[in-house]
Amino acid sequence: MSASSQPVSFQIDKELEIPSIPLVLIKIIQALDQDTSSAKQLEDLIMHDPALSARILRLANSAFYSFRARVKTISHAITLLGVSLVTSLAIGINIFDTFTKGAKSEAALINQLWTHSCGVGVLVRKIWMQKNGIQKETEFAFLCGLLHDLGKVVLFKTYPGKYGSIFAAEKTESDMTICGYEEENYGVDHAVVGEMLAKQWGFPKELAGVIRKHHDPSETGNPMVASVMLADHLAKELKIGYDGDHGLNPSIDIAEVLSKLSISEGEWEQLKEFASQECVNIKRFFQIS
Ligand SMILES: [Fe+2]
Ligand SMILES: [Fe+2]
Repeated sequence: MSASSQPVSFQIDKELEIPSIPLVLIKIIQALDQDTSSAKQLEDLIMHDPALSARILRLANSAFYSFRARVKTISHAITLLGVSLVTSLAIGINIFDTFTKGAKSEAALINQLWTHSCGVGVLVRKIWMQKNGIQKETEFAFLCGLLHDLGKVVLFKTYPGKYGSIFAAEKTESDMTICGYEEENYGVDHAVVGEMLAKQWGFPKELAGVIRKHHDPSETGNPMVASVMLADHLAKELKIGYDGDHGLNPSIDIAEVLSKLSISEGEWEQLKEFASQECVNIKRFFQIS
């Protein structure tokens, strides 16, 4: 039975005190929603959070971006990477940090999920750019990829220990997908849980929608959802991090996704080539061999 057709028994507030949204995140999301995020505003927000500043600088100086000169300040990082990309990175870093706090025993698993999420973010951005050219939604595409599995972070926090063992368990093709295990244990899957948190935290509606639909085979006609599905597939195939699954939901037909996105065989090969190159950068950054 699919998550959407059964009553939702999982309640974020009742099951556990979900960390309240960090203030810096509220402000960044508000600016994102109102489309008023200026470089100066973003710099001020990030500078108030030294841990966030340090991690953004580390990312800006990583093999992801290979800038010739060392990026020493947040304002320099914003000039080089752009307001939208730094906004997305700040949101992702903040969320993963918020949920990892106090989860020491599962930190390695959450780090694998963060690696997977970054990989999907980079790949969705590439797919979107290839199909639509550089435009505003390109950075939104990155954010959709980065947060598509947000619900899993909530499940880690809500069910310490138990969710970790479901996530870490070795699964074969004949086993259920992680969505199946989640539904069996919690009555909902991470797509539903992720949408709940996205709504609760006031994320843009479209982002909450992509999080909810990223495993729904009837949504392949939605270009952003289809791009996330494709990027998810590539990240799993190349083992960029780990998202607790053995593969993509078998009800999603990749050939259909490619055709809905009008991606030719040649373009698909190019994308795979790009993904394997990026895979090296991502793994190096996260120090995974
Ligand atoms: Fe997922
Ligand atoms: Fe995923």
